[in-house]
Amino acid sequence: MRLARAGGEQPRETGGAVLEGRSLFIGYGAVPVVRDLNVAVQPGEVVALLGPNGAGKSTLLKALSGVLSPISGSIDLLGRSAPAGLSARCRAGLAYVPEGRSIFPSLSTAENLRLGRGGTEAALKLVPALQPLLSRRAGLLSGGEQQYLTLARAIAAQPAILLADELSLGLAPILVQSLMRSVREAADRGLGVFLVEQHVRQALDIADRVMVMRRGEVVLQDTAENLRGRIGDIEAAYLSESTLTG
Ligand SMILES: Nc1ncnc2c1ncn2[C@@H]1O[C@H](COP(=O)(O)OP(=O)(O)O)[C@@H](O)[C@H]1O
Ligand SMILES: [Mg+2]
Repeated sequence: MRLARAGGEQPRETGGAVLEGRSLFIGYGAVPVVRDLNVAVQPGEVVALLGPNGAGKSTLLKALSGVLSPISGSIDLLGRSAPAGLSARCRAGLAYVPEGRSIFPSLSTAENLRLGRGGTEAALKLVPALQPLLSRRAGLLSGGEQQYLTLARAIAAQPAILLADELSLGLAPILVQSLMRSVREAADRGLGVFLVEQHVRQALDIADRVMVMRRGEVVLQDTAENLRGRIGDIEAAYLSESTLTG
């Protein structure tokens, strides 16, 4: 894990969080889509963000990654005020996997990994399914294999915090499970992970804490352990949304 850089502004007291957002209001114009949201991710912790379509999950990740400036509120990365913009945050230790696949289809799997700045060996240990596919063109990989590659490339950058938006979208349950296991292993080595997921049960299996969002606000949050017995309450957040919009 990368350490906070020496010099500059003194680290703020954040209880050791790798990423912390406070009182965040986020939107695409003056009207906030995400309202008064607080989130903190510790090193080695997987926080799963669940909620129905349109809840504001991707919007929150865009703000945390630096793609979108919040209307108000603050974001700290490794105990300091996060620099503006995605590339500055990536240099400071953040990795962001946006919705959809982000690979270079005409390059090989190995070349895609090398673009992830270095930690290829470590990434392959965490995502061993890629080992036999290193020389194949990434565009010829299956959907599941492309998502493995997306995850491995993010990990290869040796970030301190990974933000992943529906990494397992469209994958068969067995692949979702194996991808989630790789995420868990990366966290067990110190990576902080903030994971948007549609697969509630698989996310609960590997998460330490869970936040459920609905209509721009957190409606439920607890340890994954406590919530494993309350899947009905989580599903209610999804159902009430479709009742309201459907
Ligand atoms: N680029 C955009 N411009 C304007 N509104 C947007 C944009 N992207 C998303 N929204 C709106 O923000 C709300 C939250 O969307 P999003 O964060 O993508 O939800 P989720 O990821 O939870 O499905 C939705 O009402 C959506 O229509
Ligand atoms: Mg989304």
